[in-house]
Amino acid sequence: MTIRKAKISDAEGIHKLIRHYAELDRMLFRSLSRVYEDIMSFVVAEQEGVIAGCGALSVVSKDLAEIKSLAVNKRYAGKGLGKAIVQKHMQIASELGIKKVFALTLEEDFFLKCGFETVEKGRLPMKVWSDCANCPKQEHCDEIAVVTSVEKCPKT
Ligand SMILES: CC(C)(COP(=O)(O)OP(=O)(O)OC[C@H]1O[C@@H](n2cnc3c(N)ncnc32)[C@H](O)[C@@H]1OP(=O)(O)O)[C@@H](O)C(=O)NCCC(=O)NCCS
Repeated sequence: MTIRKAKISDAEGIHKLIRHYAELDRMLFRSLSRVYEDIMSFVVAEQEGVIAGCGALSVVSKDLAEIKSLAVNKRYAGKGLGKAIVQKHMQIASELGIKKVFALTLEEDFFLKCGFETVEKGRLPMKVWSDCANCPKQEHCDEIAVVTSVEKCPKT
């Protein structure tokens, strides 16, 4: 398994993974053109020449970044790919000088295993909610906020 920053040639594989989970209501949809636009924020897990997992790190402010669109192909689930992608994001956040990383997720227990802790959504800055405008759930939001300090996480 290789964990690396995404290349342009990964965009279709990333899009396919995100579309799969978006159709299951597990994450927000991203168009292929949006994946191309944001390609520099993506990390991928490559296994047997296939994009088996992906995740994006999006800077929100001086001290804060968000992990978005974290997805692992079911065929490769439970093999540590998700955690390895999160750890790569933590390394990138550390190199950028970001102090905290958060996620809005339905996979709270996975993030707890990655060293995050659960926080009240209201404790996150307003700027974090910009994606909500595109979310069909609106006031029925069932996502849980999890956050961690960058220095707490092991480097890859
Ligand atoms: C959540 C997801 C990324 C996990 O990826 P994964 O590669 O299967 O997870 P890993 O194998 O790296 O698991 C790391 C640890 O978390 C645990 N874990 C993984 N998924 C879990 C879950 N749903 N509930 C509880 N623990 C979980 C693993 O057992 C492992 O524990 P360990 O370190 O004690 O061995 C993947 O299941 C997925 O793509 N889910 C659907 C999309 C989604 O909801 N993404 C989150 C959006 S923010």
